[in-house]
Amino acid sequence: YWGQNSYSAAFPNAEGSQQDLGIYCQDSNVNIIPIAFVNEFFGRGGVPVINLADSCQNATFPGTDLLDCSGLSGAISSCQDNGILVTISLGGADSTIGFSSNSEAETFAETIWNVFLGGESDTRPFGSAILDGVDLDIEQGSPVGYAAFVDRIRALSADSAKRYYISAAPQCQFPDAYLGHALNTVAFDMIYVQFYNNPECGLDTSNWNFNTWYPESNVKIYIGAAASESAAGSGYVSASILGDIASNAQRTFPSFAGVMLWDMSQAYQNEHYHVKIKKALNADDNSTMEPICSV
Ligand SMILES: *[C@@H]1O[C@H](CO)[C@@H](O)[C@H](O)[C@H]1NC(C)=O
Repeated sequence: YWGQNSYSAAFPNAEGSQQDLGIYCQDSNVNIIPIAFVNEFFGRGGVPVINLADSCQNATFPGTDLLDCSGLSGAISSCQDNGILVTISLGGADSTIGFSSNSEAETFAETIWNVFLGGESDTRPFGSAILDGVDLDIEQGSPVGYAAFVDRIRALSADSAKRYYISAAPQCQFPDAYLGHALNTVAFDMIYVQFYNNPECGLDTSNWNFNTWYPESNVKIYIGAAASESAAGSGYVSASILGDIASNAQRTFPSFAGVMLWDMSQAYQNEHYHVKIKKALNADDNSTMEPICSV
């Protein structure tokens, strides 16, 4: 995840630890960058709101609270040129989100399609960039409507030559309180399970429960981990421990697809934590490793 500059949130005097997106687009250890977050679904003018911490503090589109971050369009394109998928993540820990009905969720899917993906809108925060998909990090609101949302995004993208991806980032408690129904009902391309901030099932506990996440299926499950001690209240493990856990999961579970880290600013500050994890996975037989795969 990129956008929230979680390192500076943890250490307020450490300015600028989140680098420009374009810097990370050069990093061949990274396959997917979810931009965090759309933190309000129905803001002023009925238009969603994004928050990218100190990475975009520009003007908003008239009549809305949606930031114009079109200066990021070049970085997004350079990521995509380098084979890195860039998605928009909805939700996060501090958000005003949720639907009251399936039809409201379908309408919102059309908005997301028009504002970030293959549709058209006067309020496209990333300018000419067309993102590669949408991520659901739903931690508040209600469980209503997320399956309908996913169905509508799939329908809107069905005729497109470009491939769009839908991911989810549930908490590790199974089933997830907000996304459990959607995860059991519709297909997601990637599932980034948050094994941090959840002592009941965290990576640092004996209750770590990767094996409850569709163990025998082709659903692509990622181990979601805190990229440093300061990235989460609980769940952080050292790079060598996560490297062992991940390479073991890679050998054991057909569903294992990779590792998600919260967040990029912390991974870089923590001695390039992500590079060590990638090395641990590459040290194993890599033939079953498909970072991206549809269900
Ligand atoms: C903010 O606006 C300035 C001036 O128009 C522009 O140069 C910059 O790229 C914008 N930043 C983002 C993140 O869009």
